[in-house]
Amino acid sequence: MPAHRRRGPAARRGRALATLAALTLAAAACASEEAVAPAQLPLPDIGYGAPDSLAAPSGKGSFRLGAASAATQIEDSNPATDWYVFTRPKAEGGMGRGAEFVGDASRGFSKALEDVALLREMGLDSYRFSMEWARIEPRRDVIDEEALAHYDRLLDALVEAGIRPVVTLHHFSNPVWLDDPRHTGCASGPGDDNLCGFGHPEGGPLVIEEMAEHAALLAARFGDRVDDWGTLNEPFNYLLAAYGVGAFPPGKSALLGDLLGEFVPVLRDYLLAHAAAYRALAEADTVDADGDGEAADVGLTLSVGDWVAARNHQPSDDPEDVEARDRMAYVYNHLVVDAVLGGRLDSDLDGEPDLELPGLRGTLDWLGVQYYFRAGVTGDGGLVPVLNLTPCVNGLDFGACVPPVDPTFCVPAMRYEHHAPGLYTVLKDLGARFPELPLVVTESGIATRVGERRAEVVVRALEQIERARGEGVDVRGYYHWSLYDNFEWAEGFAPRFGLYTVDYGSYERTATKGAEVLGEIARGRALTGALRAAYGGDGPMTPEPEAEGLERCNGN
Ligand code: FCB
Repeated sequence: MPAHRRRGPAARRGRALATLAALTLAAAACASEEAVAPAQLPLPDIGYGAPDSLAAPSGKGSFRLGAASAATQIEDSNPATDWYVFTRPKAEGGMGRGAEFVGDASRGFSKALEDVALLREMGLDSYRFSMEWARIEPRRDVIDEEALAHYDRLLDALVEAGIRPVVTLHHFSNPVWLDDPRHTGCASGPGDDNLCGFGHPEGGPLVIEEMAEHAALLAARFGDRVDDWGTLNEPFNYLLAAYGVGAFPPGKSALLGDLLGEFVPVLRDYLLAHAAAYRALAEADTVDADGDGEAADVGLTLSVGDWVAARNHQPSDDPEDVEARDRMAYVYNHLVVDAVLGGRLDSDLDGEPDLELPGLRGTLDWLGVQYYFRAGVTGDGGLVPVLNLTPCVNGLDFGACVPPVDPTFCVPAMRYEHHAPGLYTVLKDLGARFPELPLVVTESGIATRVGERRAEVVVRALEQIERARGEGVDVRGYYHWSLYDNFEWAEGFAPRFGLYTVDYGSYERTATKGAEVLGEIARGRALTGALRAAYGGDGPMTPEPEAEGLERCNGN
């Protein structure tokens, strides 16, 4: 049966709503914030030009269709990563933190070459993944050539399949020696076994140096096939989890102590590591593999939220909440890029950059945008020190959590709401704030066990991206998170983000409806009106069947 006829009642409801939205638009002839369907029927196809440069002016108007992953989340057992030590059960000598032991993850190391076939099957033109620093350099300055040979083979296979690699250097994980989660006090100061991590007065500069060396090594070995490099993944999000609340290794909790004194130096060092890596890549990558005039196109990826002003569990227009929302959006969505572009960090988080870091300037060729959730923020009772606000995170509701726009938008496995039009909102906002910076959606997706829901998320994301592009925002691609199910950090294996679902007994990968639909789009280089009618719009989605009381996902 053709895809557009295989619909459940919710998808039909979605189509009815999309149609209604289109008619309303046609009648009113005015732009609505929420509607995505253009004022024509049937829904027009959205065509995609060939993939091209992420950074050069010649790439403007091009579009990539890809998938993303990260090494720690997929690769087989690697005792040299901090996540291994952090999540390994106490009975086996680990720290027993997080929901589950990372163990063999999704066996994405031993199956890496086979997994290229999954990308191929969908006809994707690009794959964003990370190379595990701890695997390449398990001990300080000791390089594992076998690990490099593995990534070398993977790159060959990708290039042969016509799939452009986008390589992330640092995606939420460290070699243990960088900041040993078992010895966060770092009593004896930095040494080869423990550099004490970002933010440490003596260790921080050493970590930055190591990051640059690592970047230079990868560029020298792989620069002939890789042009697109991402230095950091979601700096603010990562640092909050790893150094702010201690949910990720190294497990430091600056937020509970001295936010400015402890957290800001970590952020400063992390950004300096980005700049050092940028320069190292630019110097050591000498081959212009994609012919865009630059051998290395270097960006970083940013976690962005669709933040809503809230009070007493409802959206609010109280100026106190609106200002709290703006402060949250600024710190979470803007501050890092402001600092890198301007060469100045807002070190007291007051909205005005004050700490001169001139080395940051000129170190961003493209910006990755990663969108997952809509969440409330209130100014009523500031849980977060200095910023004087309380966000709704992790379902923790101190009045900031708002009901989802539709109950089916809830993502119970992650306790947040996925609101597709939020992607348009953040792209428009970033496009307006950083008009010179090419954007690419390097991650977006949903934790679900329902293939139709994933297909809806794919189609709706592409519609929202098109809406932003139609209004002049330079967005050059969409990478679905994730290629297949994997280890979702502190949450363990329960959330299923994969286009392919993984059977954790046999490690077999099976295509979901999401993979079928993204594949149809990628192979045809078009999102057809039929697919839009079946999965698109902004109406209710197919529900997550086992989730009772879906409306509780936002903490309500
Ligand atoms: C992002 C991370 C990615 C994955 C998704 C669900 O914040 O970059 O590794 O965990 O969330």
